[in-house]
Amino acid sequence: MRTQVGIVGAGPAGLMLSHLLHLRGVESVVIDLQTRESIEQTIKAGILEQGTVDLMRRTGVGDRLMRDGFVHHGINLAFSGGLHRINMYELTGGRSVTVYAQHEVLIDLIARRLADGGDVRFGVSDTQVEDVESEQPRIRFTHEGRQETLECDFVIGADGSRTSTRFLIPEGAVRTDFFRQYPFAWFGILAEAPPSSDELIYAHSERGFVLVSTRSPSVQRLYFQCDPDTVVDDWSDDRIWEEFQARLAPSGAQLTTGRIFKKDVLQFRSFVCEPMQYGRLFLAGDAAHTVPPTGAKGLNLAMADVHVLDRALGAYYDTKDTGLLESYTRTALQRVWRAQWFSFWMTSMLHRFSDASDFDLRRQIAELELVTTSPTAAKTLADNYTGLPLT
Ligand code: PHB
Repeated sequence: MRTQVGIVGAGPAGLMLSHLLHLRGVESVVIDLQTRESIEQTIKAGILEQGTVDLMRRTGVGDRLMRDGFVHHGINLAFSGGLHRINMYELTGGRSVTVYAQHEVLIDLIARRLADGGDVRFGVSDTQVEDVESEQPRIRFTHEGRQETLECDFVIGADGSRTSTRFLIPEGAVRTDFFRQYPFAWFGILAEAPPSSDELIYAHSERGFVLVSTRSPSVQRLYFQCDPDTVVDDWSDDRIWEEFQARLAPSGAQLTTGRIFKKDVLQFRSFVCEPMQYGRLFLAGDAAHTVPPTGAKGLNLAMADVHVLDRALGAYYDTKDTGLLESYTRTALQRVWRAQWFSFWMTSMLHRFSDASDFDLRRQIAELELVTTSPTAAKTLADNYTGLPLT
């Protein structure tokens, strides 16, 4: 088999890139270890930046998003016994975010790729990428019991945080990994209950952070900060709701409760791999970088990476100009590091660190007061939360 661009990973980065390339007449094949059902059912994040929404609409995959997504013009910060709204829409001159679950984005992209005759192989095994230093890299894999070899001009490593493609970039000699661990995790739940709040609540409390999010008019997504080794089964529904109430009550936020039908513990990491390109291999999305979920940036960064990559590959196929491919790492990393800073800032402002003293708690409150009273500081938060425009 031959294609122009071989894409490892049918997540947001891989599928969106395949879609964008198709629109400009560049062929690709996407492979993924998981089945279509598992990709379409795995619960991940749910906040789309303005630029992600615009990109999906502009390229014809935004219909369901416009119908079923919820546009949020602000967020609430809860601290010191009060609830403070950040009006992102006003502060940014009309930008907002849309609540629409990542797996819904994937359902839309898969449907569109298949309707356009795209080649997407689910449930592959034994994936091996070879010769990325040459001009003819290959991907070997097994699909439906048959061994396949896919010859490509380029290979895209869009295989998520459990990536194998990243390790094709020689560590040390070429690749540097930048890494930060956090001494906490998030306990996440999905509950059958209408939204507690019209907009998300990010809550600082002496017992630790809480996030009140939503998925639909009848399903809520909530998280509380926990120890990384927390065992889900140690937490009954009653105990979970009590913990949420204890952390939120001081701010006056009211919780609607209901049957909890999913519980999970999300690990927290900040990670960047540099460079994002090696020979004919280009990394995109979580394969190259991970952010803690506090800034809701993961999916959006993946979309931004492939927006850059699509243009670079387009220029190459139009004119053989490799300039944009060569500057891919530099262009993508600028946004990646900005998002790293933002996610770290939101995380450190809102979470309780195990060694935090009363000094640290009061310093956090001062920072939250700054962000909710100074228009300049609020605008910094709003600009970064709604996302920098895709250039
Ligand atoms: C979510 O709804 O899953 C969500 C929302 C905002 C975040 C992180 C996760 O910052």
